[in-house]
Amino acid sequence: MCGISGYIGKNNATKILVENLEKLEYRGYDSSGLCLYKNKDFKVIKSLGSISKLKEKVKNIDEDFAIGIGHTRWATHGKPSQKNAHPHLSNNKKIAVVHNGIIENYKQLKNQLICENFFFNSDTDTEVISNLLEKYFRTNFIETINIVLNKLKGSFALAILNKDEDKIYFAKNKSPLYIGIGKDEVQLTSDISTFFGKLESYIILEDGEFGSVSSKNIEIFDKNMRKINKKPIKLEKEYKNTCLLNEKYYMSKEINEIPNVLKNELISLNNLKNKIDKNLFLNINSIEIIACGTAYHAGLMGSYFIEKNCRIPCHVFIASEFKYSNPILSKNNLYVFISQSGETADTISCAELVKNFGCKTLAFTNVEHCTLNNIVDFVIPICAGKEVAVASTKAFTCQVFAMLFFSHILANDYDEFYINNKDVIDNFYIENLLGNFYTEILKFNKIFFVGRQGDYYSCSEASLKLKEITYINCMAISAGELKHGSLALIDGSTLVIVICTNGLIKEKINSNIEEILARGGKVALFTIFEKEDFCDVDYYFKLKNYNDEFNLISSIIPFQQLAFYVSLEKGYNPDKPRNLAKSVTVE
Ligand code: F6R
Repeated sequence: MCGISGYIGKNNATKILVENLEKLEYRGYDSSGLCLYKNKDFKVIKSLGSISKLKEKVKNIDEDFAIGIGHTRWATHGKPSQKNAHPHLSNNKKIAVVHNGIIENYKQLKNQLICENFFFNSDTDTEVISNLLEKYFRTNFIETINIVLNKLKGSFALAILNKDEDKIYFAKNKSPLYIGIGKDEVQLTSDISTFFGKLESYIILEDGEFGSVSSKNIEIFDKNMRKINKKPIKLEKEYKNTCLLNEKYYMSKEINEIPNVLKNELISLNNLKNKIDKNLFLNINSIEIIACGTAYHAGLMGSYFIEKNCRIPCHVFIASEFKYSNPILSKNNLYVFISQSGETADTISCAELVKNFGCKTLAFTNVEHCTLNNIVDFVIPICAGKEVAVASTKAFTCQVFAMLFFSHILANDYDEFYINNKDVIDNFYIENLLGNFYTEILKFNKIFFVGRQGDYYSCSEASLKLKEITYINCMAISAGELKHGSLALIDGSTLVIVICTNGLIKEKINSNIEEILARGGKVALFTIFEKEDFCDVDYYFKLKNYNDEFNLISSIIPFQQLAFYVSLEKGYNPDKPRNLAKSVTVE
């Protein structure tokens, strides 16, 4: 979280940095800032809130700058505020730093610096870096950086300006950082997509690497201070414009793209099917899926498909729990990582752990150039296209579809899968079933999502979507679990949204609905079955029946739409929910 950018070249640094920060805004939008450099002087501009506010502020700058660094923030240490916005300057104002990551030992370092009469203007962990650079300042600034990096624990991508030099210094550990090279310019970024359409080549920095860029030269050092040569890679991919066209919000645009992205996904998975390295799943005992948030829900759905179709035991873990649970790793298991961004720190650290143990690894990601893809043995791209809205919609659908594909590859019945889904996908379109239901749900204090098996996983995702962008306190409960405790919460102010696409458990779900109604709860039922198959519910929505497996993919869409409409109804921006960011690059 947080995005950093650096510019050095013949063009207008201010304009380019702001443009880049706009593209990095998905990484955090609590505040933003620039440090522009000219004639041994800094100009610092900071702004609270989105990049549009920073853009307004820089309009008043009439001089040109050729060097600068920029930052868009997702707050970790210290509230979103002007004082906590990056860049952070050293006490002597000679060094400016922008940082993505977390310095885990910052408190200890800060206390030491305070004892040595350094003062702090912010609550951030980053400010210790600028002050440490001042404290250990050497004329050879690379030496200074090396000393300071050796004192930091945690994750960081850093861009640093030193008032004495026309250079940008950088360092990377566990947060992404790339150098982009153009005709008369060099840039730094947290996300390579800011380079597309602008620069010619790029260098991927590895953990422990640091160095400097100037208009003439790029110097990179490894953690042993050895100078290294890295061959730039040609930027081939065209920059695909992700503008909103006629839509007002990315989230609705991305939901509406689902039928098309599924079509593309099926084509590309079909092309990939014979390229998947079969050794990955030869003689495996179990499949262990690791992911976070929405991707974790896609993993749950994936495990349902894998166990049903292949009868291979499958377990799903929340990445932040897995790593610190002293996991029992085995080379006879396949470890699967699901991540839209491929940059989620919790997921990446698990992939590194498992990989270092020598286990087989597979990732499902949506971004070609991402850290996770560089760690694992094989990647299945989910082909959702760029997802901008913070709440994941089309990527979730594509993740689940890719997991379904994978389960059939493992089950050796791919052809059947293809036949069963080709027509479905060709004819699939998005309906709006909801009517004014999105205003109805505002009448309730408590909202539960209830289902069984695959439908329960849809409930988990539906509930996450609703809380994420409407701030309504809601939760998913496995229908059979209600009577083991949560039923105590049901009263007249409770709305229970029930999802049922599975004929085998229809009767059981009906009994659960009876139990809810008997306690005065209100029920909204979303099902592929007829109204008459169930007792009288307060709201009934008929879902289109595709096939048992695809129903689990299509049935989430009404809940993505529901969350979107409720968010608008409450006056929020669904694309940018409070406190969140699209890419979570800190553990
Ligand atoms: C919610 C959402 C998040 C992400 C999670 C993992 O809508 O998008 O829960 O799913 O942060 O992100 P990725 O998939 O990039 O690893």
